[in-house]
Amino acid sequence: MTMMKRGFAAAAMLLVTTSLVHAEDVEVLHWWTSGGEAAALNVLKDDLATKSIGWVDMPVAGGGGEAAMTALRARVTAGDPPTAVQMLGFDILDWAGEGALGDLTEVATAEGWDAVVPAALQGFSKADGKWIAAPVNVHSTNWVWINKAALDATGLAAPTTWDELVAVLDKMKENGITPLGHGGQPWQEATVFDGVVLGMGGDLYKKAFIDLDPAALGGPEMAEAFNRLIKLRSYVDDNFSGRDWNLASAMVINGEAGMQMMGDWAKGEFLKAGKVPGTDFVCIRFPGTQGSVTFNSDQFAMFNVESDEAKAAQAAMASAIMNPTFQSAFNVVKGSVPARTDVPNDAFDDCGKKGMADLAEANTNGTLFGSMAHGHAAPAAVKNATYDVITAAFNGEYADGAAAAAALAEAVAAAQ
Ligand code: BGC
Repeated sequence: MTMMKRGFAAAAMLLVTTSLVHAEDVEVLHWWTSGGEAAALNVLKDDLATKSIGWVDMPVAGGGGEAAMTALRARVTAGDPPTAVQMLGFDILDWAGEGALGDLTEVATAEGWDAVVPAALQGFSKADGKWIAAPVNVHSTNWVWINKAALDATGLAAPTTWDELVAVLDKMKENGITPLGHGGQPWQEATVFDGVVLGMGGDLYKKAFIDLDPAALGGPEMAEAFNRLIKLRSYVDDNFSGRDWNLASAMVINGEAGMQMMGDWAKGEFLKAGKVPGTDFVCIRFPGTQGSVTFNSDQFAMFNVESDEAKAAQAAMASAIMNPTFQSAFNVVKGSVPARTDVPNDAFDDCGKKGMADLAEANTNGTLFGSMAHGHAAPAAVKNATYDVITAAFNGEYADGAAAAAALAEAVAAAQ
């Protein structure tokens, strides 16, 4: 074969490979099913479509991803895992430990992810020195979303301490609305409790939820945190049980409720409803937690696949997710902030700009903690045991906060 012919053959081969790569679809398991989440998901789908990566949707509703993780386990057990899976924190490391995940190190190295992804996130994106997941965002849970008109009607300022919070909630009650929009599902109660415990101090949060220190889990400060959680129960409406989080957001959006304690995916719902931060709603850190951040980062973990084409599609999806322009466009809609430190904040609204600044500050000051409620503080067994006690406490099943704290210490010890 002449040089020219050989060159032509190689080019033709490349074309064939490329077209095969482009023909490959990715099947994506995720729990982004609310209005705001779906809008963000479309940003991702559309971006992948421009790169000829086809999308096969596998949505499994349920915040926090518990139902999605159950569906995932069933698929893997059946020997048919999806290509890419939305996943949080310790779940990623668990699947990596089972040897179920593919290796993204080649694309990560080529694109220099090590230099731009915060170390706290890399702790969940890498195992044994290999990249195993691509982080699409950083959410955080210690937020409160307040209806601006309802706050104005109290005549009080946005609360910065627990006592101020209680004063605002009491006034909202007097004004005839449901002070706290809430959905009675264990992961939602746990999300509220992230903020309540962090409000008692970063030390307590870290010792209890990350170090799993029995004295912190069962001690007087945790007892007080539970008393506060029990107090919050008195501000929800009678129909809270089982309500989805986005319906609780809707109550705040339409003024039926005053505020919601929820991660910043709630902002996605406000934006989807055409609401403007500062005008229609106010975003504050959970009173007493300004300066600290409890984070959860949605990552896409890639499951082992056989063919080179499927592997190439996974790498292309990961690369698309990590693109700085995409990270801006996606997170503006999702309510989260970018998972890279080099994305400009220009396109973000005031809550997003605050989220980015708070994250950077907490990262520098050592006050950035993994969210207990969203699987970034401890493995699933501990998380689930913690959920059970929190929900029981919220529903009045313990005599007081001290009894709940004692039960928590016991449950966490048994789960390890
Ligand atoms: C995820 C978010 C999601 C929320 C509610 C969290 O666990 O990190 O991306 O919007 O659950 O579904």
